[in-house]
Amino acid sequence: MHIDEIIRTRRTVHNFLPRPVPDALVHQAIESARWAPNHKLTEPWEFLLIGKETAAAIAERNAEMLRESKGEARAAHKLARWLSMPGWMLLTCRRVEDAFRQEEDYAACCCAAQNFMLSLWAQGVGTKWSTSPVTRDPEFFRLVGIDPDERFSVGLFWYGFAAEECSSKRGALVDVVRRVP
Ligand SMILES: Cc1cc2nc3c(=O)[nH]c(=O)nc-3n(C[C@H](O)[C@H](O)[C@H](O)COP(=O)(O)O)c2cc1C
Repeated sequence: MHIDEIIRTRRTVHNFLPRPVPDALVHQAIESARWAPNHKLTEPWEFLLIGKETAAAIAERNAEMLRESKGEARAAHKLARWLSMPGWMLLTCRRVEDAFRQEEDYAACCCAAQNFMLSLWAQGVGTKWSTSPVTRDPEFFRLVGIDPDERFSVGLFWYGFAAEECSSKRGALVDVVRRVP
């Protein structure tokens, strides 16, 4: 695929087949992810490849939070969904004092996230970026071994082979392009 086709056909995948993704494809995607632009070469990212045990603990913690806010049925539904996610990658960004540098570092991490998703997509692997509230929960940080004073979550990325075709849409191009003389 031409790069524009990879970019335009990538879709957020909500349901995955239970088939695991070869490690080599994930490592290749992370290698590409870290070639994202990053001002001052801060390389603010860390990619955590989350194994089954920790993934299950995160899914349980997420269900526990949902049980309190949305009730048992919703919590049970999400627990089953999260436990079925074949691959888990957590992308974190280093915290820095300077607010502008922090924005730049977060922007760099978002570029890395897109590289990661596109590299996998080019190999037929779908992803879903999640910023669920559990990714800001102290217990979540304990489970993944991150000091929340040092780093924050950019997103939890589930990856796998899509169980169905996914679609999305965008508004008209003219609405977002403006020429300034
Ligand atoms: C920062 C960020 C956070 C996101 N968080 C979620 C999320 O928590 N749950 C979800 O279903 N999708 C999430 N998404 C995916 C978007 O909903 C998705 O990109 C959007 O619907 C457009 O669809 P597409 O990715 O197929 O183009 C997130 C995307 C971004 C960029």
